Amino acid sequence: MLFRIMLPLCIAMLAVNVSTAAAPAKAPLCKACHGEKGNKPLMDGYPKLAGQNKGYLVQALKAYRDGLRQGGQSAVMTAQAKALSDEEIEALADYYAKQ
Ligand code: HEC
Repeated sequence: MLFRIMLPLCIAMLAVNVSTAAAPAKAPLCKACHGEKGNKPLMDGYPKLAGQNKGYLVQALKAYRDGLRQGGQSAVMTAQAKALSDEEIEALADYYAKQ
């Protein structure tokens, strides 16, 4: 009896875990401007990150961090990206690409 209740419960918990694939540690920093899961930017002039190509996100973040991407509102992002390691950029890009 207990097994009949516990098994579906475990499967349900597993499913929830998979669909809400843990956000990377630095993602809360991005939320304020790009929105929860990167799909609800704070302002019309801010980009959505959700569903963007992973390779593009990696490139963009490294370009901001290394001062190669300039103009527009890039200064806002340069400040954000300065604190990110290659590993963190990889994890963030992977996360937003999958949203
Ligand atoms: C203070 C607001 C703010 C925060 C916080 C912020 N961003 Fe941004 N982000 C922006 C703005 C504004 C732009 C557009 C910059 C430009 O004009 O190049 C941008 C652009 C980007 C882009 C380029 C998108 C594209 O389509 O080219 C990426 C990728 C990005 N942000 C990722 C992140 C990540 C990851 C974080 C968290 C570590 C983050 N941002 C935190 C405001 C923010």
